Amino acid sequence: MAKILGIGNAVLDTLFTVNHYPDENEELRASQKQQLVGGNINNSLYVLSQLGHQCAICTSVAADQEAKQLIAGIKERKIDTTHVQTFIKGRTPNSFITLNSQNGSRTIVHYRDLPEISFDFFAKIEIEDYDWLHFEGRNMQHLPGMLNIAKTFLDEQPISLEIEKPREGIEALFPQANLLIFSHHYGTAKGFNDGETLLKSMQELAPHSNLVCTWGEKGAWFCSPGGEIKHQVAESIDHIVDTLGAGDTFNAGLIHSLNESKDLQQAVAFASQLAAKKIRQNGLDDLLTEKNSDHPLANIKQVTNAKTTVVESLDGTSVVLIKFEGKIKAYENNCPHQNVPLNEAYKIDVNPFDNTMKCSVHDAFFNIEDGLCVEGPCWNESLKSLSIRVDDKGDIYLLSE
Ligand code: FRU
Repeated sequence: MAKILGIGNAVLDTLFTVNHYPDENEELRASQKQQLVGGNINNSLYVLSQLGHQCAICTSVAADQEAKQLIAGIKERKIDTTHVQTFIKGRTPNSFITLNSQNGSRTIVHYRDLPEISFDFFAKIEIEDYDWLHFEGRNMQHLPGMLNIAKTFLDEQPISLEIEKPREGIEALFPQANLLIFSHHYGTAKGFNDGETLLKSMQELAPHSNLVCTWGEKGAWFCSPGGEIKHQVAESIDHIVDTLGAGDTFNAGLIHSLNESKDLQQAVAFASQLAAKKIRQNGLDDLLTEKNSDHPLANIKQVTNAKTTVVESLDGTSVVLIKFEGKIKAYENNCPHQNVPLNEAYKIDVNPFDNTMKCSVHDAFFNIEDGLCVEGPCWNESLKSLSIRVDDKGDIYLLSE
């Protein structure tokens, strides 16, 4: 579980579901009307809070009636609103969204007449209290200053930046972030045909950052600093229900996974699965609710770094749990050497000095941190790492793939 501060936009969304996209000047009856809270950062934080993180939003709000509704909605999402800046001048940002039930497309008309967070307001936040800062690439007046203090005062904590739309001068800020997430809207607006060519050009601007670019059904491209550009295929989805907030969900999945010390490839894979799950359902509520969620694997109190805990998930998967540097690691209980459980012959011995654990069958040693076999018959192969969520009671849940 991490403390995450998101800096960006909070919006009141009015969503009309229609059975086809209207023609210009057509009068069409909607089958459903929903009033939701939205905005990219607010949505990403909501998903992160469902993934077990403690989230806070830094955003601006108006002083009108709708602002009360907006703040209540954010609180309901279990997002801390301590760092919300109220402006007397301006009105609550609104989006009117047409959701086409035939293909899940969402067409957004956005209204905004509200100042963005001021630099002075942001500068008073104790950002050192957070484990991760995630910025929306907007507020070009103050974003450079905010990123600058974040970069200056934070040594360990990652800074991520979402680049959804082109904005004058934003490219100069890229080196300030550890993780840059580009949308295909930005890519196409900048004249790129796919994420690969976009990232190639971005590698020159931000050689020390992790780069990710999503491109709808074409999948996502990603690269670590100095690394080659790789591609993640998009999951095929039989029935697209609702794409609103899919990108925000992807970003949350990425942050969650990287915070769990997964590598970029694993994180992009997890983020894509989570976004696909979102697209198959309406809204963002109960995104992680599934059959596993009623059945925790274990409680963190049962998991230590001195020995492994082997448990079985609801679908019969045997799972190895162990603590490493304060975080819970979960691996499928299957040795890649002969596809047998690691505890087939005896218990899984842990060596706390070199942080490895040993398969009891043919003495393969695996790093506790990432599951890589560092000695033994399956050298350089890895245990399958599993995604988990820890709730506020310390119960550990397996997330479905
Ligand atoms: C979805 C969303 C909506 C919001 C709009 C803002 O990604 O955040 O919730 O109204 O985009 O641009």
